[in-house]
Amino acid sequence: MKRISSIVSAIALGAAGAANATDLEVTHWWTSGGEAAAVAELAKAFDATGNHWVDGAIAGSGGVARPIMISRITGGDPMGATQFNHGRQAEELVEAGLMQDLTEVAEAEGWRDIIKPVSLLDGCTIDGKIYCAPVNIHSWQWLWLSNAAFEKAGVPVPKDWYEFVAAAPALEEAGIIPLAMGNQAWQSSGAFQVLAIAVAGTEAWTKVYIDKDADAAAGPEFAKVFAAAAEARKMRAKSNVQDWNQATNLVITGQAAGQIMGDWAQGEFAVAGQVAGKDYTCLPGLGLNDIISTGGDAFYFPKSDDPEITKAQMVLASTLVAKDTQVAFNLKKGSLPIRGDVDLAAANDCMKKGLEILASGNILPDPNQTMSPDTNGQIEDLMTQFWASEDMSAEDAQAKFAEIIGSAD
Ligand code: GAL
Repeated sequence: MKRISSIVSAIALGAAGAANATDLEVTHWWTSGGEAAAVAELAKAFDATGNHWVDGAIAGSGGVARPIMISRITGGDPMGATQFNHGRQAEELVEAGLMQDLTEVAEAEGWRDIIKPVSLLDGCTIDGKIYCAPVNIHSWQWLWLSNAAFEKAGVPVPKDWYEFVAAAPALEEAGIIPLAMGNQAWQSSGAFQVLAIAVAGTEAWTKVYIDKDADAAAGPEFAKVFAAAAEARKMRAKSNVQDWNQATNLVITGQAAGQIMGDWAQGEFAVAGQVAGKDYTCLPGLGLNDIISTGGDAFYFPKSDDPEITKAQMVLASTLVAKDTQVAFNLKKGSLPIRGDVDLAAANDCMKKGLEILASGNILPDPNQTMSPDTNGQIEDLMTQFWASEDMSAEDAQAKFAEIIGSAD
């Protein structure tokens, strides 16, 4: 009880302006225009507590940043706080006793009652203790389309994935890359699982990504997914960029017609001054089924021997979950808030669609929550190979995929 009250007073003190300002280094991989604008809101909110956010951005996206973050924590050079996707990415760090337990602050502030869906908090919980502060729900299931590209090609903006595929020849004839996709493994792996939910449906997706059923992975529903992915592979053949936001930029500038990417793409359209519905179109669930996965980002706090750091960590945890921070951050990021009791009147059309789907309860977990980092890494390796060239057939890729699912954990 005494510790709870000391945490609560640390937070209250933080809100009023801390007597002792503490520098807290915060690592993350948010370096695109939209991401940087969003993370600046977190820094602003933390600085307003009288502490100081020392920005530790690591360029190159999660795949590059995570191993660096993990080796700093295991190597005895921990930062004050760090981003991970909540779910299983930090599981081993928690099990090794390296991460700060946030249960007291979470209980003092009633996180279990305010965080929605509560699966976000479950993703932070190991053996009944809470180890992270979720900051957003990010959803992967979006197709972003350039209205100008379709106008130039003389075809209507598609309403679903199959209309998009049918428009590809006209787009190519007009010199437009049908599908933009960067070359990082997580991008193709993410696009594949978006196609999987849209084309195979939630039942088949659940069997594969949650139940780890190798027969379902080898079965006819997933054969359709691999066939769709092989088509998508042709459509992205000329998309010669590396980073996801470079691919988004191809869509923003009309050089490419569409991109399958998470809601963070929205932050890039916003920074470019583009308007949803007018300049670009977003199709949740690729226009085939209105479903979003509710993975997201969360901050974890490596343990520190310095009580001032621990105190500042608690203040930051509390600040991240606070209503105002949630609104300011998510409006810039394009993601959805982790609590339903905030005012999102300023949300654009795409974000509103996301909020409606969330409210309808049509949600699925993210593979980061259902599979180990090792399994996700194996899928990424396979997807890198499959999407890179036409050398690997859809059938061969499906057989390898089923093998991975068969030994997944
Ligand atoms: C994800 C992260 C998103 C995001 C994206 C691209 O892992 O959860 O917030 O912005 O990477 O950097």
